[in-house]
This record gives sequence, C-alpha cells and structure tokens, in this order.
Amino acid sequence: MPINFHDKHNRMTYTTRTADVSWLSLIEEHVGISGKKVVDIGCGGGIYTKALANSRAAHVIGVDFSSEMLKGAARQCENLSNVTLQQGSAYNSGLPDNTCDIVLERALIHHLHDLDSCFQEAKRILKAGGVFIIQDRTPEDCLLPGDENHIRGYFFEKYPHLIDMERSRRHKAHEVQSSLDSNGFTVAKTAQLWETRYIYPDLAALNKDLTQRTGRSILHELTDDELNELIEFINSKLKNHTDPIIEKDAWTVWIAVKI
Ligand SMILES: C[S@@+](CC[C@H](N)C(=O)[O-])C[C@H]1O[C@@H](n2cnc3c(N)ncnc32)[C@H](O)[C@@H]1O
Repeated sequence: MPINFHDKHNRMTYTTRTADVSWLSLIEEHVGISGKKVVDIGCGGGIYTKALANSRAAHVIGVDFSSEMLKGAARQCENLSNVTLQQGSAYNSGLPDNTCDIVLERALIHHLHDLDSCFQEAKRILKAGGVFIIQDRTPEDCLLPGDENHIRGYFFEKYPHLIDMERSRRHKAHEVQSSLDSNGFTVAKTAQLWETRYIYPDLAALNKDLTQRTGRSILHELTDDELNELIEFINSKLKNHTDPIIEKDAWTVWIAVKI
C-alpha cells in the first residue's frame, strides 16, 4: 500500500535526520540563500526548511498538503523565528504571485502526476529571475546497485517487483527538463548528488530505521514479513562491513531560473 502522508502514525517519518553538509554545499555553491525569501513545497517534516532557515534565509515558508506532516515540521522548526508553515498543495500553494526568490521541491515530484501544473505554480509564486530547485531520483538514480553506502539498491535486488513500481512513479530526467522548458524556466544546472542520508553507528541502528520504514515510502509497499526478509538480506550483504554505516542516496538536482 502506498504511504499515506495524512496518517498521524507517519507524522515524524520525515523528521529524523538533519540535512547533510553535501546538500548544503551544493545549494550554497549554485544558489545564494542568505537574505532570500524561500518556499519549501512538500516540506514534510521540515528537515530542509530548517536547514534553509539556518543558512540565513530571510524567511522560509514550508508548505505541505498534509496537516500531519506540518505538525512534525512545526516541532522541527519550533525555535526558528524565520520559518512559517502553511497547508497547501503543489498545484495551489495559496501563496501570492511573484513574491519569492527561491522555491525548493525536494523528494516531492515522484508523488505527483501533473508536472506541468506543479511547475506553473512554482513559476507563479517566484519573482522574475527567481530560482527553482527540484531534487528527486530519476529511475536511473533509484536502480543503481546496492552496496554498503547505497542501501536502497538492495531493496530492488531482493524484490525485483519493486523495480516496475519505482520506474512507474519516477519522472525521467528528460521529462523534468522538458516540463521546465515549456513552463517558463531555463535550466541553469543539472547536478548529480550523492547525499549522505544518515550515519548509523552500527547495523542494529540501520535495522531499527528500516523496521520503522523511516522516510522510505517504497517500504510501505512491503508487508511486515517481506520487510523482515529484506532486513535479513541486507544484513547478509553487510556482514563484512565496518562501523559506522554511512548511507547515501543518489539524486538529480535541477536548478532552473524563471525567465
Ligand atoms: C518524500 S516527502 C519529502 C519531504 C521533504 N521535502 C524532505 O525532502 O525531507 C514528500 C512530501 O510531499 C508532500 N506532498 C505529497 N504530495 C503533495 C502535494 N500534491 N502537495 C503538497 N505536498 C505534497 C507529502 O505530504 C510529504 O510531506
């Protein structure tokens, strides 16, 4: 069953990490955050809302269609005076026209069918010359083989039926590019990023995270028994690993400018 973002049991699933320095460096290298008005659409538990606010953004608005996710984000950002959270959709954020400098959509677009409408909404709220950052995994990113860093690769090695599921929900790189081109953006940079997701002190800590399906919507497609078998499989693959386990995910990041 696909993840239900509106279920209170999933409220904290996107709150358990902090943004890695590899992510912050890429963003800072290509987009100045300091003093900017930023909107984080599909903000989930606010991990990146918080990172942007701490990178001296003037103001960050986290938008999500799930009130439960926003409760997690509120806890994450509770001491940040430059953060506002509001409920809204990627197709209709509820924000005014031409008012923000940067829109971030991280790990959002594979949950959306209508890229054009989503990108038109980003364009509507951005000022002229504003920057649109999209970060997601293409089918190629997802299906890279598993190893002691790329733990997700093992999911597909163990359960090949997940490959079709993943391929069907992930947008191909050329589809994202062409939708940006036809909705008033010019792509300034397309970058590949190996983002450190989490550093587990040992295998037991990784196992606990997998058991809870934390921040991994694809694991909601498995039964509890299938998940336990997957964890055993991963443990057999990692039996010679050395602690800690540094989990990394492969991403594509599009940095586009509103024309
Ligand atoms: C995989 S999580 C990513 C959370 C966060 N951006 C991150 O990278 O940690 C996807 C988020 O998008 C939200 N979402 C999904 N579809 C949406 C839509 N149509 N409009 C707004 N938010 C949506 C979900 O509620 C969820 O919080």
